[in-house]
Amino acid sequence: MKEKKPVVLSGMRPTGKLHIGHLEGVLNEWVELQKSHECNFFVADYHAITTNQDTREIKQDTFDMVKDWVAYGIDPEKSNIFVQSMVPQHSNLHLIFSMLVNLGRLERLPTFNEYLKEIVQVDEKDVKRVDEEKRAKVSYGFLGYPILQAADILAYKTDVVPVGEDQLPHIEFTREIARKFNGLYGELFPLPEAKLGHAPRILGTDGRKMSKSYDNEISPLDDLGALQTKTKKMVSDSTRKSLSEPGHPYECSVFDLQEVYDLEGSKQVYSDCTTAKLGCGDCKGLLPQKIFEKYGEFREKRESLRDQDILEVLVEGSLKSQRITGETLSQVKELMLMDYIRK
Ligand code: TRP
Ligand code: SF4
Repeated sequence: MKEKKPVVLSGMRPTGKLHIGHLEGVLNEWVELQKSHECNFFVADYHAITTNQDTREIKQDTFDMVKDWVAYGIDPEKSNIFVQSMVPQHSNLHLIFSMLVNLGRLERLPTFNEYLKEIVQVDEKDVKRVDEEKRAKVSYGFLGYPILQAADILAYKTDVVPVGEDQLPHIEFTREIARKFNGLYGELFPLPEAKLGHAPRILGTDGRKMSKSYDNEISPLDDLGALQTKTKKMVSDSTRKSLSEPGHPYECSVFDLQEVYDLEGSKQVYSDCTTAKLGCGDCKGLLPQKIFEKYGEFREKRESLRDQDILEVLVEGSLKSQRITGETLSQVKELMLMDYIRK
């Protein structure tokens, strides 16, 4: 008998067109996993509205993002691609799991506290004020979103969840919910494992994290001119004062890109930089052509994809997801003795 492949699930919020950091980090990992695992990749649109309730662009952002997935090599023939909100079983499981979690546990999750720090700007020692602000600004849905994530994962009886480091507490939390359910009602859920990728470090042109909100992105759709402008303004080794001084490639985000786009050539760059033979301007000048060429095939494929093609992929995927998660939900209800209508 053919051995069952381990199940993978991962999701991204619908951010619209992706930048090169997404492609070289997350998507490389997904494309690789597709070869050996049963993969489910989804658009986490309900997760997106936990922090931003403006939904006017959400559909277009979804199409734009999934076009990038497919053009980059996430193959709808191999992987199940769907939208979270099109699979109501996720929400149903979220509701059930929300009864198994206490408030204190949710409030202690580091992701929750990180976010609080961003939106509640009061002295942390003033505990009462912080508490009031928190209650005023944080929605019920936001507090509970790790439960929705647990539902996303467990609905597919997922074995492996590729995520970034910041998401590790959520996977641990998901395992707790699985154990709790299994203990209360009977063994159903395998305990998922997190899988950390080896994403290369790709910073924005200003040296901060690459992000749309900082306007520092490099896009795989950029033309040569745009790439020249953007690489030119990149922050390099900030301790290097002049060409005659040696530079420090490992503290330089231009060098990070040299390694990604031409690993072989980056060895020469390394030695020329550290011996002060190469200036930063010339070094940056090597990049645009290499970046542009790497995404030639991607751009072509992406150009050929219409919103309608993506919609078809998402409808088919969401139907498949409804079958998989519908089965899980039936088992959940049976174990809970809440299967009113028995098959
Ligand atoms: N929480 C993740 C994020 O904000 C996205 C996400 C939602 C996810 N559900 C998931 C990732 C399940 C992995 C598995 O980026
Ligand atoms: Fe960075 Fe290149 Fe300048 Fe060296 S020469 S510091 S690698 S930009």
